[in-house]
Amino acid sequence: MIKEIAVKDLNTEEFIREKVGEIQAAVGEGMAINALSGGVDSSTVTMLGHRALGDQLKTVFIENGLMRQGEPEQVAGFFSDLGVRVDVVDAREAFFSALKGITDPEEKREAIRQTFYSTVFGRIVKESGAKHLLQGTILTDVDETVAGIKRQHNVFAQLGIDPEEAFGYQIIEPLIQLRKDGVRVIGKALGLPSGLFERIPFPGPALSARVIGEATPERIETVRKATVIVERLLKNTGAFQYMGILHEDRVTGMRDGKRDFGQQIEVRCWESVDARTAPPTRLPFETLEQLANDIVREVPGIVSVTYNIATKPPSTIEAV
Ligand code: XMP
Repeated sequence: MIKEIAVKDLNTEEFIREKVGEIQAAVGEGMAINALSGGVDSSTVTMLGHRALGDQLKTVFIENGLMRQGEPEQVAGFFSDLGVRVDVVDAREAFFSALKGITDPEEKREAIRQTFYSTVFGRIVKESGAKHLLQGTILTDVDETVAGIKRQHNVFAQLGIDPEEAFGYQIIEPLIQLRKDGVRVIGKALGLPSGLFERIPFPGPALSARVIGEATPERIETVRKATVIVERLLKNTGAFQYMGILHEDRVTGMRDGKRDFGQQIEVRCWESVDARTAPPTRLPFETLEQLANDIVREVPGIVSVTYNIATKPPSTIEAV
């Protein structure tokens, strides 16, 4: 049982001191690795790890082909400004070939997990000689996985998986007692710029969690284009998280006076503190209209735009 630290009980300086000590004790004189996605959790772990280990920590950004527009360059830039070197590893082919033909949501998550931990990380860890992987699993990830709602890509021990046995390295999870609000507090205290720690959450399986059905490079590109518009139009709402989702069903539409059997984007925008429960944001109708207009105009093949009005639960934040 993991002991939760609620944000009201969080002593920031003490938490950082304790975790830095634990990381140093676990890694000793060796090397550790961490994967930075640019999300709040992995960014906070990167800063914590660098404070604990300095040059003994190698930080990589895995370009899995599933990230948002311009994300690899943007994230590497943020961290180079903070004096943290990030190596970008091109693993697009490995991920897309693992996702080929898979439509089931849990199988998709499993394919990403295997590709990330076994194929891509297996190789990077072997080449670097590291024995430890630092990662930003948080309590909500564990809860939902254990409850059988969603197998988060980064949860192992709680499912009876020993990473050492399965992948050949140990995993250190310094944020596992926290929820998102607590992670933001720690990230800020570690000096992350507001542009980073205030970013909306983004899931490990990235845009493949936002494509219902097969995540092909073309379909990912479609949802990537929609995401640019959704993030542009909703960034000032103060909402917890917002996203575009590409549906599998096609619907009849019309374009230039001709029938167009097109694709559909669902927009979701959530109010939440810790992602456990979330009602949809009451967006003004003008904003919804703007979303529809821009998405239909700028994203090829989209003829329908919907807004989700269901609450979590029973909905979940991501569609996959
Ligand atoms: P759901 O969709 O389960 O999402 O309501 C709850 C929060 O977690 C994020 N999420 C993930 N984060 N790995 C992650 O690191 C994952 O596999 C994953 N799936 C969902 C989601 O974006 C939301 O903030």
